[in-house]
Amino acid sequence: MDVRKPQNIHIKQSNKVVERNKLLHANPAIVVDRLKASHWRFENVIIPKIEQSFVGLMKIFPENPSLAVLFKVFIKFELAIKFHISIEEDIIFKEYLSQQSRANDSDSISHEDEEPFLCEIIYLLKKEQCADNPFCRILIQQLEKFELELEEHAWIEENIIYKKIREQRK
Ligand SMILES: [Fe+2]
Repeated sequence: MDVRKPQNIHIKQSNKVVERNKLLHANPAIVVDRLKASHWRFENVIIPKIEQSFVGLMKIFPENPSLAVLFKVFIKFELAIKFHISIEEDIIFKEYLSQQSRANDSDSISHEDEEPFLCEIIYLLKKEQCADNPFCRILIQQLEKFELELEEHAWIEENIIYKKIREQRK
């Protein structure tokens, strides 16, 4: 029996709490730098790797049309997240850092709107016949890891950035 596993989960959870608390009390510029760094990682590391895995899997299973459909859904998600990132970096983060309300700017938006896309793709991939294939398992793991990272990212934005902006706009 692997007794390390529950302990690892516990350590991860407490690290998450410590990290969140640190950010709640951090300088606004540090929070924004951290969020921009994860945007960069999403766009330049995580998403391209997932795309590669999808393309590879479609080559292995060319007779499976639903993989191509799921890949298209992922591309839609990718476009939505890139649009979202540009709004956050061009408008939202600047408003947060300036500590001045710009009431006419776009309403608060959150990455939470994008998470269901990933959740749905993972759910449907797991139902595919190829789900036991090692390359498909890797793709599912990449998507699940991304989902967790995005969830944490959205928590920071919601509880630090958007919360502050809503207060500024009151
Ligand atoms: Fe973001």
